[in-house]
Amino acid sequence: MADTLTKLAYQALQQGKSLVGVAHKEVSTKLMELVAPKGAPKTRPIPPQMLMDLQAANAALMEIDWDEAEQGLYPTSLLFDAPWLDWAARYPMVWLDMPSTWNRRSERNVSDLPADVESDNYPDYYLQNFHHQTDGYLSDHSASLYDLQVEILFNGTADPMRRRVIKPLVQGLRAFAERPASQLRVLDVATGTGRTLRQVRAALPQAQLVGLDLSSAYLRQANRWLSQLPDELPQLVQGNGESMPFASGSMQGVTCVFLLHELPGDARHNVIDECFRVLEPGGVLVLADSVQLADSPQFETAMDNFRRVFHEPYYADYIRDDIASRLSAAGFSGIRATSHLMTRVWSATKP
Ligand SMILES: C[S@@+](CC[C@H](N)C(=O)[O-])C[C@H]1O[C@@H](n2cnc3c(N)ncnc32)[C@H](O)[C@@H]1O
Repeated sequence: MADTLTKLAYQALQQGKSLVGVAHKEVSTKLMELVAPKGAPKTRPIPPQMLMDLQAANAALMEIDWDEAEQGLYPTSLLFDAPWLDWAARYPMVWLDMPSTWNRRSERNVSDLPADVESDNYPDYYLQNFHHQTDGYLSDHSASLYDLQVEILFNGTADPMRRRVIKPLVQGLRAFAERPASQLRVLDVATGTGRTLRQVRAALPQAQLVGLDLSSAYLRQANRWLSQLPDELPQLVQGNGESMPFASGSMQGVTCVFLLHELPGDARHNVIDECFRVLEPGGVLVLADSVQLADSPQFETAMDNFRRVFHEPYYADYIRDDIASRLSAAGFSGIRATSHLMTRVWSATKP
């Protein structure tokens, strides 16, 4: 009975988040068409069949999210975890930030970054306003709005999609079952504000967690969220996923969520090679990113609209990329992939 009520509460929460996300996008799009018509992107209408497919995939995502909590892969409380008060307080800032976003979009200005950014410290492809967001990834302001913006973008499904890395990660780490859990090191590449680390921490309370990202502002925000947890604080390191400051073979697990679509092909290749290098033989890599044309052709219009609405310069190339072949070329074996709503998850082992 208690389980049924909790499941109903979880479904109601997800439906509520979805309604808020859809309503926000409807109103903000209407406002943009009115106030800044030059910045309004030309999107394609979503076919009715695709809407039905999206609803079915959303329902399947909720089901697997609930099932895997029930299987004990992570606590059920994680399904309700979000900084609600903080998001409520920040929501007005999302609206206040919009005019500058529309402005950048209408002027096709994609390199409007803070004046004090030391551009030599970053790869060229990084120095852009991904999603047209203010300051790109390079300010505390951007980091403070990011989680809420992603939550709205995905209609409240961002964390359920991120959580799909947990099962393959936990299963892969069984290769090291003879070791104490506290000796396992799991690295989250491009950890951003640490949402994935927060999910992984709930599943692996004793493992040593490490988060790497190029943005010190995003890492500061990650530190704020993660330091609220009672467990050991994850180590947060500023660095490039293409050349990571970690010894070869020093990690037993690596995750990487929503990074690949923001990289040009050669950087995608380098990041996968680096993940292979830092893993110990037997270690597991779990990648999660947008679904692609080959696995989810029914969502082609949604993928195309995403590219039209947001500045995502490498997305069109990414959705045609063969990630399994890249994993295999890097030396990985046991490559598996599954899709969950708009996210594709690959897992692979270093032999
Ligand atoms: C779309 S966000 C995803 C963040 C996080 N994984 C999540 O699930 O929300 C992309 C992140 O990748 C980081 N990033 C982009 N290129 C990177 C690189 N070459 N090395 C490390 N981090 C990078 C950005 O700073 C940003 O935090």
